[in-house]
Amino acid sequence: MAKIVVIPGDGIGEEITRSAVEVLKAADKKYSLNLEYEFHDAGGTAYDKFGTPLPEETLEACKAADAVLFGAVGGDKWDNVDPALRPEKAILGLRKGLGLYANLRPVKVAEALVEYSPLKPELAKGVDLVIVRELVGGIYFGERCESEMHEGAERAWDLENYSVPEVERIVKLACETAKLRRGKLTSVDKANVLATSRLWRRTAAKVAEGYPEVELKNLYVDNCAMQLAINPAQFDVIVTGNLFGDILSDEAAVVGGSIGMLPSASIGTSTSLYEPIHGSAPDIAGKGIANPMGTILSAAMLLRYSLHEEEAAKAIEAAVEKVLEEGWRTADLWKEGFKKANTEEITREISQRV
Ligand code: IPM
Ligand code: MN
Repeated sequence: MAKIVVIPGDGIGEEITRSAVEVLKAADKKYSLNLEYEFHDAGGTAYDKFGTPLPEETLEACKAADAVLFGAVGGDKWDNVDPALRPEKAILGLRKGLGLYANLRPVKVAEALVEYSPLKPELAKGVDLVIVRELVGGIYFGERCESEMHEGAERAWDLENYSVPEVERIVKLACETAKLRRGKLTSVDKANVLATSRLWRRTAAKVAEGYPEVELKNLYVDNCAMQLAINPAQFDVIVTGNLFGDILSDEAAVVGGSIGMLPSASIGTSTSLYEPIHGSAPDIAGKGIANPMGTILSAAMLLRYSLHEEEAAKAIEAAVEKVLEEGWRTADLWKEGFKKANTEEITREISQRV
């Protein structure tokens, strides 16, 4: 038996996680996975109910689970709450609380979706990369000051710091990832300006020495942003810090056309967490039209990395690809000539093909 904690969160989170659980149940039936689910609150909805975006009880349940499936958090409704209690604090608190130091964001442009890319089809075709983002350090978790007076003016500041062990463990994981793929690793930093980046670059070089089968290249983050737009197919594995990884992974995500398609895995020392990379989309919440495929593919990653059920993971991924090939499209992807499906319909089509 494997216990999965499901955290729907806010906005479309409820719809997309429900959909992913349905697909997991289809996989369970076929591959006898013996999965159990437990639902918990986090985000703005938890703030409304309990006065905190991450109730202690939720974090404890995650720690005791085999894996966590997370929807999305946030919404304009909570724009004015105390920064320490914003919905986003739920995901940041889970990352810290579960020690989720590595975020894997694969971007693979499905053949059927090449034409959805904002890039020319010849540039989008064949893109198959993974961004490995450091997730519990850097400027996201450094000391900060919301407001203070300095030389007669109000100012705020956020501190970035990285230690050698923090960089070592993420680069190691990136090397392991590259080893199982095409063996090409790009480490992204801003070493021409930042001290943290120079430490990052030195450390990455040392770690990579232990992986002769992996070829390491360094790239400045501004150049990497440009390369992702002009030749994304050159990348295999990209490893970078928390803030750069946040920005680059959104950029890489749109190469595939819809941000609704992309899964992610946050790997830690104990329970790992899986979530789509898009947000809570409050504008379409409750309408039943959200694209659940990013969450469904996250559930596939959950089976692969946390439960080592490779066959079931592949079956889900293949089912998603098949449904796309057969012309099914959710509202975010629909065009004349295709079959339009709402959340429930696309979920059913995918479940049937698992
Ligand atoms: C992401 C999100 C989060 C982040 C937000 C919601 C705090 O943008 O997972 O990329 O910045 O890490
Ligand atoms: Mn982000």
